[in-house]
Amino acid sequence: MTFYVTTPIYYANSLPHLGHLYTMIVADTIARHKRQQGIETFFLTGTDEHGINIERAAARAGRTPKEQADYVVNYFKKMTAEFGLDTDHGGYDMFMRTSEPFHYEGVSELWRRAAKAKTPKGNDAIYKGRYEGWFCAPCAAYKTEDEYAKPAQAGDPPTCLIHETPLDRIAEESYFFRLSDYAEALLALYESRPDFVQPESRNNEVTAFVRGGLQDLSVSRLKSSVSWGVPVPDDPDHTMYVWFEALTNYITAIGFGNEERERAVGFKKFWPALHLVGKDILRFHAVYWPAFLMAAGVEQPRAVVAHGMWLDPNGRKMSKTLGNTVELDVLNRYFPIDAIRYFCLREMVFGQDGRFGYEALIDRTNSDLASGLGNLSSRTLTMISRYTDGRVPSGVISEDKLLLAKRTGVDTDETTISGFIEHARDQFLQHLEAFAFSKALEVAWSVVARVDKMISDAKPWELAKDENQKQTLSAVLYRAAETLRWLCVLLYPVMPTATQEIWMQLGFGSSPGSLDPAKLKWGELAEGTSIGEVKPLFPRIDKAKTMAEISGKEQEAGAAGRSDRLSSDVQSPTSDVQSQPASGTAGASPAMSAAREDGSGRQATEADAVPGAEGITSFIDITDFTKVDLRVGEVLTAERIPKADKLLLLTVDIGEEKPRQILAGIAQYYEPEQLLRRKIAVVANLKPRKLRGYESQGMLLAASVGDEGKPVIATFTEEVPNGARLK
Ligand code: MSP
Repeated sequence: MTFYVTTPIYYANSLPHLGHLYTMIVADTIARHKRQQGIETFFLTGTDEHGINIERAAARAGRTPKEQADYVVNYFKKMTAEFGLDTDHGGYDMFMRTSEPFHYEGVSELWRRAAKAKTPKGNDAIYKGRYEGWFCAPCAAYKTEDEYAKPAQAGDPPTCLIHETPLDRIAEESYFFRLSDYAEALLALYESRPDFVQPESRNNEVTAFVRGGLQDLSVSRLKSSVSWGVPVPDDPDHTMYVWFEALTNYITAIGFGNEERERAVGFKKFWPALHLVGKDILRFHAVYWPAFLMAAGVEQPRAVVAHGMWLDPNGRKMSKTLGNTVELDVLNRYFPIDAIRYFCLREMVFGQDGRFGYEALIDRTNSDLASGLGNLSSRTLTMISRYTDGRVPSGVISEDKLLLAKRTGVDTDETTISGFIEHARDQFLQHLEAFAFSKALEVAWSVVARVDKMISDAKPWELAKDENQKQTLSAVLYRAAETLRWLCVLLYPVMPTATQEIWMQLGFGSSPGSLDPAKLKWGELAEGTSIGEVKPLFPRIDKAKTMAEISGKEQEAGAAGRSDRLSSDVQSPTSDVQSQPASGTAGASPAMSAAREDGSGRQATEADAVPGAEGITSFIDITDFTKVDLRVGEVLTAERIPKADKLLLLTVDIGEEKPRQILAGIAQYYEPEQLLRRKIAVVANLKPRKLRGYESQGMLLAASVGDEGKPVIATFTEEVPNGARLK
């Protein structure tokens, strides 16, 4: 069995941006998943190098068209390498260039076949005529009246609705493809193969377009007007229409019309392809291309799958004129590649448009990756290294220890968790195969949350203190490690680098990319496996600092016209991503703690495995914060409460008529006397509640530190009056 996936070939007149990167990420994810399944896969990308637009871009830059193409190709190849999408990184198999001589041969072969063919209605599929109309060079498409804007001044050309640039008037002899004869055949194709155009909404769109009637298509230009292109066979005065020729790259790349390519890759072996495209070029792929193939008697593609467009955070289309494009060198400099891949696939509902904002990217990286997957991995591995000697423990709880284990609240039935994870795997794969990447990732993150909770509930750091609970502890750690192994295999296509890293930290050789997720079996993680060195995976990104740097960069780039420069100044990845300090943050649950490094190079270890060091996972407005009334208080009295070994009963003066009575769970760490006359911070507007029969009229603030969440009371080093507000 083989599988063939393609991206569009990118115009060689301008440098790539997020939109181009996205299609490649999606194709790369699909290809890696197929390879995991043991299917021989071919992933094709490349550049579309012919046509008037490239000729003009070259002329503007003082280059020949081929030099212009070489220049852009260089940049593309550098970009794909930097983003881990090239062959060396397990990405595409071939970078196609339409200026390759074998492409000329293959295209000529397709043209000849179509030129000999009759349409389903018995007419010549290609005929010579005269074209008169408007052409948009950047779209490389002829425009009908509803596709252009009338000029402001009579006599001026109309403008393209997409590019807002003037159209070219064309009145010349041209070859035509008799598309109008193919409507029924195309509709029959869509009907018989509902998966031919995906997602379904796009299928409906294409069907409606074809039902609306098709016009014949001009498929050549006079060589005297467009010389940079493939000559029409047997008529050197004509150059092929760039889309006719560009679409054909999908078959010429792998050997159609060229023996050498056939031997090197194999049209017979790999065709038909799954074409991944942006919705803006769906019509070319789902209407024109199938009709050309029908005429030439070539099998139809496996499917045409269209994704939506990336918009800016305000929902505007990205464009260089608006200055809202996402620059790849900025992305590459500030974000780990896997975070970008994850974000793109998680954030965009496949098929629909999505908004791209750096803030959202930072938030997702910090919450889902640093605090989510990264933390799950580091806390699990840290605990294995600490509590079970760096070896994967046994997951079995023997009969005689079952009762003991149950008492801790740990589910002694392993199939509860394994069943959950197997079901999640099946759902994940279903979504992945339907290109519902964001749904698939939601499912994977439900696994992360579930296992995080399992750890937090079981409190391995408590179990470790009790020799009798050794097996319970081992079972919890085994389950967490086995889940991590599964997550590596599932998530490999989306995050090849991070999953490989976790894989190595788990102590495995080879790659999660060589295992078929459908064949995973719970319990195949071998007891006794020595784990590798535990390293942080996704350092937290300092949002304020990074945002400030990015906007500085963007202004700089704007001033220097960066978007038109070659990538010689593309920075190395993630070198200066800032991390949060590791200690001293108070509060939330261990499930929220993040893998991180502090300035001293400390690696994510115990503190991340236990409560007390967590990352901020969501942000509030200042108005949310001002709802909290924080006051300076002075402890007037402090005493223990009978039969409540954790609570102290305090009276605190917060500048009101009467002191407040506040209960604090700090009795194991503070002697009452230590607190007398201490200035503390109090949440004054917390709803009063009763604890052990005493009303608590507020809460004091304390850091939660270390393994057990030891409280350290927040205090003031300078004189402050009671009742002063903290803000
Ligand atoms: N050369 C043609 C394709 C020929 S395929 C036989 C072309 N090139 S392109 O460089 O303009 O665009 C290539 C792909 O990038 C298209 O699928 C397009 O949808 C995608 N994107 C360009 N901008 C995009 C966004 N803002 N968002 C998502 N994808 C976008 O068209």
